[in-house]
Amino acid sequence: MVQKRTEELNVKNKELADALHELELSLEKLVRQEKLASLGQLTAGIAHELQNPLNFVNNFALLTTGLITDYKSEQNAEEQKAILEDILANVERIHQHGTRASRIIKRMVDHSRLSKGEFEMTNLNSICKEYLFLAYAGIKSNIHGFECKLIENYDEKVPLISTVPQDVARALLNIINNAFYALNDKKNNPETAPDYSPQLTVSTKLENEKIFISIKDNAIGIPDEIKEKIFNPFFTTKPPGDGTGLGLSISHDIVRNLNGEIVLKSKVGEGTEFVISFPAQ
Ligand SMILES: Nc1ncnc2c1ncn2[C@@H]1O[C@H](COP(=O)(O)OP(=O)(O)O)[C@@H](O)[C@H]1O
Ligand SMILES: [Mg+2]
Repeated sequence: MVQKRTEELNVKNKELADALHELELSLEKLVRQEKLASLGQLTAGIAHELQNPLNFVNNFALLTTGLITDYKSEQNAEEQKAILEDILANVERIHQHGTRASRIIKRMVDHSRLSKGEFEMTNLNSICKEYLFLAYAGIKSNIHGFECKLIENYDEKVPLISTVPQDVARALLNIINNAFYALNDKKNNPETAPDYSPQLTVSTKLENEKIFISIKDNAIGIPDEIKEKIFNPFFTTKPPGDGTGLGLSISHDIVRNLNGEIVLKSKVGEGTEFVISFPAQ
């Protein structure tokens, strides 16, 4: 009897261990999905940003080819001079837009350089600036016609700190993407006033030997009864496919691991502010 029981228990134990293992695997998969989603958005945004200057370069190059043909067949010296002036102006534009494309590629490279995940002396103002830019480009390429007023206010006194820039960027990106989602939600809600204008303010401040990063939107806000839940893994109010519920939980863990804190302030109907703080060291 005892032996039979023991065998049954062993089987049950094995089943439980298998179930646990499966759960771990799906959790890993979800975390990877959340990572990929924010990465995919960034890539889409960068591609979208690059397309613009490249279109200019191609169009002006074509135009210039036409002008050169005109120049060759033109007899009048005055006219030829005028065409040359146009050619010169176009080449300058090509250079200008080419330079813009190079700057965007530099951002991309900076982003992948960050992926090492190591501690380094980091300029938090630049991280905010860059990732706000990337996130905005990402959302615009995902949601056609999305427009949002960005207000940036960076405190020049914020010192470099030793931290993991890639992690800070991820934490920020989650929060910024949530804000854009909420702003878009509010904009598209039929009950929203027609003159509503989505707005996102990102600012930094050095105060009492702490660095504060604030991300503030004027979207729907977060009701009191769900405020304490939003940092929980898997808590989401979004339809399946739109959210994993992992973003804020990951941001929270990242910031805690870097000795920082995240504080949430929100009022329904007015908006939401997340404040991340780090010791200035
Ligand atoms: N800026 C915001 N405005 C309103 N609600 C927000 C905002 N940021 C987060 N939330 C709420 O917190 C929930 C959890 O966010 P998160 O952990 O990033 O998961 P997900 O974005 O996948 O839903 C969201 O589903 C949303 O209800
Ligand atoms: Mg999220």
